[in-house]
Amino acid sequence: MSEPLKVAIAGLGTVGIGTIQVLTIHADQVAARCGRPIQITAVSARNRRRKRDADVSSYVWFDDPVVMAKEADADVIVELIGGSSGVALDLTREALAAGRHVVTANKALMAEAGAGLAIEAEASGKTLAYEAAVAGGIPIIKALREGLGGNSFSRVLGILNGTCNYILSTMDATGRDFDDVLKDAQDLGYAEADPSFDIDGVDAAHKLAILSSLAFGTKVDFESVYVEGIRNVIAKDFEYARDLGYRVKLLGLTGELDGGIYQWVHPCLIDAHGPLAAVDGSFNAIIAEGDFVGRSTYEGRGAGAGPTASAVVADLMDIAAGRFNHTFAVPSEDLRNAASVQVEKRVGAYYVRLKVLDQAGVFADVGSAFRDHRISMESIIQRDHDSDGNVHVVIVTHDVLESQMMDALEDLEKHEAMVEAPHFIRIENLGGE
Ligand SMILES: NC(=O)c1ccc[n+]([C@@H]2O[C@H](COP(=O)([O-])OP(=O)(O)OC[C@H]3O[C@@H](n4cnc5c(N)ncnc54)[C@H](OP(=O)(O)O)[C@@H]3O)[C@@H](O)[C@H]2O)c1
Repeated sequence: MSEPLKVAIAGLGTVGIGTIQVLTIHADQVAARCGRPIQITAVSARNRRRKRDADVSSYVWFDDPVVMAKEADADVIVELIGGSSGVALDLTREALAAGRHVVTANKALMAEAGAGLAIEAEASGKTLAYEAAVAGGIPIIKALREGLGGNSFSRVLGILNGTCNYILSTMDATGRDFDDVLKDAQDLGYAEADPSFDIDGVDAAHKLAILSSLAFGTKVDFESVYVEGIRNVIAKDFEYARDLGYRVKLLGLTGELDGGIYQWVHPCLIDAHGPLAAVDGSFNAIIAEGDFVGRSTYEGRGAGAGPTASAVVADLMDIAAGRFNHTFAVPSEDLRNAASVQVEKRVGAYYVRLKVLDQAGVFADVGSAFRDHRISMESIIQRDHDSDGNVHVVIVTHDVLESQMMDALEDLEKHEAMVEAPHFIRIENLGGE
């Protein structure tokens, strides 16, 4: 068998230790499948004395991962520390400059610094691989870049954040409020102590920016992603949505529109019997729509040691087998700068929840506000009295331009009977299976 591929791992946390476990437990199988062994030679983390779930004593230890990236006896540096700047960025650049391949699970790094790093990887003729950065248990990078490589994509969308999906599906199943469920998710280890990256949609936005670049041949453009998290979805929304035949999910959606590219992350109502509706808990799911393949759907665990390490090892096996891929599918110089399509250009249906004073004439006023903005309603239903005696009114519209919808809501907000700002959730038509 050929010479081993030598690997140095920076970061010995959840994913780093998971990667060591896969490479150790499946050493023979991995070697058989890629034609040569993969051998860990060096590791780095902050605390050398920390007890870990893998024996790292036989590997050369580096206190400084940036020094390791330059000096370790390794063909590949695996970056499993995290963060879009600082040590993760420094060690990645150092490794590429030193002529080593890099494998990372870091979506923040790839979304925010990926464009520049891809150029640096190409200049050194090395691979920069990141299958683990998006939905670890779903090989979606490989699917978009290779398996579906013969297609033009119209859109790619999905449930990209397991923490949000866990919170939303638990709220749906139990009728409990957001804060309550978030606290449980933190206690169970599904959500970080500082959950904002997940629940405010930033993590999903990082992943969406990467998928968008791959699917549409554009420069990765995280700054242009429209992001709305799940903090404003209340328990009642799940009840009303269910009665209307919908479920609530946080989706990332990217596609071509008016000659530009949209990248939107926001809560959506989706058909309760359609695609993605049954994807619950911490699972991720992604749909790619291609002109020849049609719809292709993937589901799997998006995070955790096993699924993420599985993706890291897949990248290492590609490198070991000599399979080279451009970072974002095509040479960096061929990636386009696409115009970003603002969410105001979205055309679709809306679910609107109003909290109004329980008084005569409000229903008619709401109806006329929508009529004034040429928005046709599919339904308008007076729902429950709230504990404060006010009334919920729930409206479902037909397709309308988002900017028109926002104008109508702005007018409605000024109405004297309005107790709080109107709340809306976009209704996303995902079509049939
Ligand atoms: N966890 C997941 O499920 C998951 C899923 C997909 C992608 N990812 C990505 O994978 C990466 C790693 O995540 P993780 O969950 O494994 O993180 P983690 O458990 O917090 O581990 C981070 C590791 O990095 C080390 N580290 C931090 N700062 C360092 C520094 N300045 N120098 C050297 N080592 C340093 C830590 O050392 P000590 O152990 O000594 O403190 C720790 O071993 C992140 O980019 C994350 O976004 C994670």
